[in-house]
Amino acid sequence: MKIVFATNNKHKVKEIKDLLNSKIKVLTLNDIGCFEEIEETEDTLEGNAKIKSDHVKNKYGYDCFADDTGLEVEALGGVPGVYSARYAGENASFEDNVNKLLKALEGESNRKARFRTVISLQLNGKQEFFEGICNGKIELVPKGAEGFGYDPIFTPNGFDMSFAEMDLSTKGKISHRGRAVAKLVEFLKIKS
Ligand code: IMP
Repeated sequence: MKIVFATNNKHKVKEIKDLLNSKIKVLTLNDIGCFEEIEETEDTLEGNAKIKSDHVKNKYGYDCFADDTGLEVEALGGVPGVYSARYAGENASFEDNVNKLLKALEGESNRKARFRTVISLQLNGKQEFFEGICNGKIELVPKGAEGFGYDPIFTPNGFDMSFAEMDLSTKGKISHRGRAVAKLVEFLKIKS
């Protein structure tokens, strides 16, 4: 069975390949010659993940899955959410986004937040969604140098270290993406 993962993020591809059995061959966007930018124009994680998996299915004819992730901060009513990548502006760096979030939470005692990943799967003409959530809190200052994005300021519940202080495999076991991927893997194993 061949399936496209609508990404070129090597980190994510490696994570998925480790989890899937060898009967399932994962192709990336580069592998199928898809080099155009797929614009994420929806205002939900589900919508944007679906845009990516639909694009591959409709234009290239492959079964496909795609993911989208957001950081939802309780005291900010779920912001930045689906806009996490562009929270501090269209070309914002990870650092810009982190700084903007810390500023927005200055003096705020409710630091509760969660990461949410949605995976959209297009398989044999059917649409499926898988969700993974990781609950935690936003730190007062960045901690650690691993990972990416908001990792230095997010500490998952039950841990005393931020995502950026964890190694990849520890993060993968408890993270939003790890949990969504585990559901996808179970589903594909049943189908394969
Ligand atoms: P994407 O949809 O996976 O590309 O994620 C959108 C944005 O959410 C990224 O640009 C990061 O800022 C943030 N993000 C996603 N996953 C993580 C994570 O595991 N740790 C920290 N930040 C993340």
